Amino acid sequence: MTAPTPDGARVRRVPLAHLPTPLEPGDRLGAALGLRPGTLWVKRDDCTGLAGGGNKARKLEYLCAEALDQGCDTLVTGGGRQSNHVRMTAAAANRLGLACTVVLASDPGLRPTGNVVLDHLLGAELVWGGDLDYYGTEAAIDAACERLRGEGRHPYGMPVGGASITGALAYVAAAAELEAQLREAVGTGAAARAVVVVADGSGGTHAGLVAGLGDHGRVLGVDVGTRPDLLEQVPAKAAAVAEAAGLPVPGGGCQIDGDRFGDGYGAPTHACREALDLAARLEGLVLDPVYTGKAMAGLVAAAREHRLDVSAPVVFLHTGGMPALFASRYASWITQRP
Ligand SMILES: Cc1ncc(COP(=O)(O)O)c(C=O)c1O
Repeated sequence: MTAPTPDGARVRRVPLAHLPTPLEPGDRLGAALGLRPGTLWVKRDDCTGLAGGGNKARKLEYLCAEALDQGCDTLVTGGGRQSNHVRMTAAAANRLGLACTVVLASDPGLRPTGNVVLDHLLGAELVWGGDLDYYGTEAAIDAACERLRGEGRHPYGMPVGGASITGALAYVAAAAELEAQLREAVGTGAAARAVVVVADGSGGTHAGLVAGLGDHGRVLGVDVGTRPDLLEQVPAKAAAVAEAAGLPVPGGGCQIDGDRFGDGYGAPTHACREALDLAARLEGLVLDPVYTGKAMAGLVAAAREHRLDVSAPVVFLHTGGMPALFASRYASWITQRP
């Protein structure tokens, strides 16, 4: 199966995600933030369906197609202990009859919780890498590929977050899907000015969206503390993805909120907790403590500090991540009200 890029080139993809994902109004949350009805929208990429869903299902459609094209027999990737990309890669491998090896930048711990339960259930080979940083995890993914090659296997290595150009191309298509939904919902003029707020882990989703929407001003990324160099990586990746899709290099300046991750990746913050509560209690929308809670905290802060152009739609991209809510680390934080 192939997907069209705007210049008519075809990029092969294997269907893994439930698409298109819904675009839903978020008026009750919007009102709490002083936004007029019809301003706040939620793009439900948490509903992509692959083993619990999330943004990585879209990227995996393109990444897995490339793996199959290259005759690979094993998907290899890695991430933090509660990585959603790892969980969904393990699921994609099973759907396609491939093996899967994942590096987790953590130790086995006493018992699995959250995404790690699902990693076990899905049966991926888990490589516990210990306390690795972003580039340490990338190196461990390369080392796992090397080992598998030595064992006569044909691994397909994916970077953390599936953030290669191939993976990010999925969000060029997602941008087109979103724009079509917005045109229907708010009309062509407003749709063309909508701003998307998204959690930045590897930055691949942000880069793909910018490439598809054509301007950095259309995407506000909220750094969740995964990688140290988003401000260089996102614009470079957006330009490379646009070129691969046959699109012009996006204009404008890259927008990243670097003030929401607190003490680091996965660290609880008051603003994240407030964002989880607002979304849950006003919209019945479940966010997660690592990515989407912090992204929503970024949206809340931008609205309260009048940094959003509220004459245009504001779209919160819900990228999934719910299993992390069930990680032992967050149990008392969630149950004790602030
Ligand atoms: C739930 C969730 N949201 C957002 C992201 C960030 O996506 P990206 O790595 O493309 O920046 C991730 C990545 O792991 C994720 O799991």
